[in-house]
Amino acid sequence: MQELMQLIENRQSARGLFDPERAIPAEDMGKILEAARWTPTAHNMQNFEIVVVDDKQLLSAISEIKVPADPTFIKENYPQLSFTEDELRRKKTGIMGTMFPKSWQTPDPSLEDIENEGRGAYMAKQIVSCSAILFVLYDPSRRAPASEGDFLGIISLGCAMENMWLMANFLGIGVHIVSSLSGKKVAAEVAKLLNVPDKFSIAFSMRLGYPVTPVHYLRVRRDRDDFVHRNGFKK
Ligand SMILES: Cc1cc2nc3c(=O)[nH]c(=O)nc-3n(C[C@H](O)[C@H](O)[C@H](O)COP(=O)(O)O)c2cc1C
Repeated sequence: MQELMQLIENRQSARGLFDPERAIPAEDMGKILEAARWTPTAHNMQNFEIVVVDDKQLLSAISEIKVPADPTFIKENYPQLSFTEDELRRKKTGIMGTMFPKSWQTPDPSLEDIENEGRGAYMAKQIVSCSAILFVLYDPSRRAPASEGDFLGIISLGCAMENMWLMANFLGIGVHIVSSLSGKKVAAEVAKLLNVPDKFSIAFSMRLGYPVTPVHYLRVRRDRDDFVHRNGFKK
């Protein structure tokens, strides 16, 4: 029991570089995919497909896709950042500003500043350093019955993410979710490279690998009493 709690608590994002020479053993990749297989999904619709990319040439082709900076993300990201560990501990949500490129640590950076900083180049390095990327595709034709906007189906994809993430970390494999690869324009290019049929969309992508840069950083959470409401909200 204690071990399960530790696994859940220690699961974390590995945003640095991975060892490009180290492949994930087939048996371990099998366990990660088996964890996906047993995902709980609304109505057991199993509304996902997974593309495993471990071919170096394909990883390199993906790394060459230009990922434009998203002005909305930058604008909404800034107020949620913390710039000291004290601030982050006080807020109990969000992440350290120092984990982002310098230009993103200002409230209103120009797209030019972001480009000049070479963010795209670092992301390309992150991608080619992976042992593999898993692209999890959403299949809207397996939608949860009577669920508005297939809300329940979308939640199910999150369950797949967590199952795989826990298994990967349990096996000593780092995980980094890269949402910018599922942004509309970028995802269209990825889909083309991977021959993804039109009916699917990329829900999320996971970089997998063995970190060569430290992954330890301050991780905070709200306290249980901050979000638990026994027998309803207090009047
Ligand atoms: C749906 C979803 C999307 C995420 N997208 C990104 C992302 O694009 N880049 C990133 O570095 N982390 C991403 N993350 C990771 C979160 O930032 C991370 O889980 C959170 O900050 C808590 O940190 P921890 O994973 O180390 O506990 C994503 C997580 C989820 C669940």
